[in-house]
This record gives sequence, structure tokens and C-alpha cells, in this order.
Amino acid sequence: MSLSNQPNGRMHGKVSVVTGAGAGIGRAAALLLAQEGAKVALIDRDSQFVESTRAEIEAAGGEALALTVDISVPAQYREALDRVVETYGRIDTLFANAGILGAIGPIESIEDDEWDETIGNNVKGTFTSVKYAVPHLKKSGKGSIVLTSSLSGTRVFSQKGFSAYSTSKAAIAAFGQMAAFELAASDIRVNVVAPGTIDTNIFSSENKEPEADSMNTKPVEYPEGTVPLPEGNGKPEQVAKLVLFLSSEDSDHISGAVVHIDGAESLFVG
Ligand SMILES: NC(=O)c1ccc[n+]([C@@H]2O[C@H](COP(=O)([O-])OP(=O)(O)OC[C@H]3O[C@@H](n4cnc5c(N)ncnc54)[C@H](O)[C@@H]3O)[C@@H](O)[C@H]2O)c1
Repeated sequence: MSLSNQPNGRMHGKVSVVTGAGAGIGRAAALLLAQEGAKVALIDRDSQFVESTRAEIEAAGGEALALTVDISVPAQYREALDRVVETYGRIDTLFANAGILGAIGPIESIEDDEWDETIGNNVKGTFTSVKYAVPHLKKSGKGSIVLTSSLSGTRVFSQKGFSAYSTSKAAIAAFGQMAAFELAASDIRVNVVAPGTIDTNIFSSENKEPEADSMNTKPVEYPEGTVPLPEGNGKPEQVAKLVLFLSSEDSDHISGAVVHIDGAESLFVG
């Protein structure tokens, strides 16, 4: 029996779209949703990454569709969703997670177009990811949307140089709550995950100004790193468990929540 037919899986019968599914948190979430029985549409702008996630899901007996798409290009994303519906017949859940660190540096050094790139990728990309999924989710009924914000932009405002990224993540948290209220009447839940430091390759997407290194950063006083829970930095698989919970009907009365997942990091570095 294929994993996607597991009758006891918490996502049995569901079709899930995951953006940023080629790496890190999105990849871990896609694997777990598939393990719980969802058919998963994997969206990422990196074709090798997204193919590798698909191969891993299929090797485990799950079902997945790999789509190389840049979410900041709305037409590409809209066509990709049409492909998902042609292939699987419906869309039940969306994990709008793709994001970049983008411009990092002093405010006066960030070029206008670098600011636009960070905000465009993270905020507009999240908006369009939701916008074009909503008609499909309305058709299926009982939809769930999960967005990825960050401690940067919700609780932590002490990372000098992060003004563009933190602004983008604050906007995502606000948008998620607005969407939760608006879409409640259509029985679509919307929640936001706000991770702390998670071990992924997110730093490969930073666009660091030369001046960034000389900015004062807060000294780390905690014995090791900034995460009070003994295991330290979070793992993508730990965020994936939260995404599964918020995507599944286990969380059927939760909407508009911003859930911090940070091993108490924000209580320390706030
Ligand atoms: N890692 C952390 O510490 C951390 C903390 C808080 C929030 N986040 C957020 O988690 C999300 C996932 O990040 P990650 O840590 O897994 O990083 P990652 O770099 O490992 O994975 C991000 C994936 O998103 C894809 N992507 C980026 N922009 C895209 C676009 N425009 N279109 C399609 N795909 C795109 C990348 O190709 C990559 O595969 C991001 O929104 C990030 O801001 C990460």
C-alpha cells in the first residue's frame, strides 16, 4: 500500500501544497505531510532541490508532484496550482513557507531594489501564494493555510541589519491574522508559525552589505548559543510537526494563531 493511501494517516485524502519544499523547513514539512497520507505538491524555484524532495517522498511510498516555480512570479505559481488540481483534483492545505533572508545591513546601505527584492519575495510571494490558492481551498472546504513568519518581526527586534527581513516577517504575521478573520466564513483556517533559530541553509539566501559585519550585535551570554532548551537550535523536523498539527483537523478550532517555536529563545534574546 502506498503511504498516500494510509487510512490512519492524519492527512489521509488531503492534497497539500508546500512552497520552499526543496530545502529546510519546507522539505521537512512536505516529507511529514506525505508520511501522514497527503498527496503533496512541492513548489520551489530550485529544480534540483525540489526533485530531490520528490524522490525522497516517492522512495518512502508517498505521492508527490515536483514543480519548479518562483513564487514571486504570480503567473508561474497560478499555473502550478492548476497543474496540482489537474493531477490530484483538489487542494486542501497550503504551507506558504518559501522565503529568503535577503538584504542584511545598515538601513542607509540597503539599496532600494534590494529592499524590494526581500519584501517582494517574502511578503508579495506569501500574498500571491495565498491569493491563488484560496479559490481552490474554498471548493474543497475545511481548508488550512499555514504561513512562515519568524521571531524576527514578531518578538525579536535586536538583530541589527535585519530591518528588511524583520519587516517582511512582521507583515506575514499581520497578513496571516487578517486572512484568518476574512476566510473564517469560508471555513478556511489560517495560522502562522514563527520559528527561532532553526538549522537550515537560510544564510545562503542572504545579500549582505559590506558594512553588515561591523554592526554592533548583541553579545551572546548564554553558555552555548541563544536557545535555553538543552538541545539548542531547532531542527526543521520540529517545525514540521507543528505544521502538520496546524494543517490537520487536530487543530480544527485554531485559526489566527501566531505560534512561536523557538526553544524559549525569544525569552532570552527578546
Ligand atoms: N532557518 C531559520 O532559522 C528560520 C527562522 C525563522 C523563519 N524562517 C523562515 O522559514 C522559511 C524556510 O526557510 P529555511 O530556513 O527552511 O531556508 P532554506 O533556505 O533552507 O529553504 C528555503 C527554500 O525556499 C526556496 N525559495 C526561496 N525563495 C523562493 C521563491 N521565490 N520561490 C520558490 N522557492 C523559493 C529556496 O529555494 C529553498 O529551497 C523562510 O520563510 C524563512 O524566512 C527560517
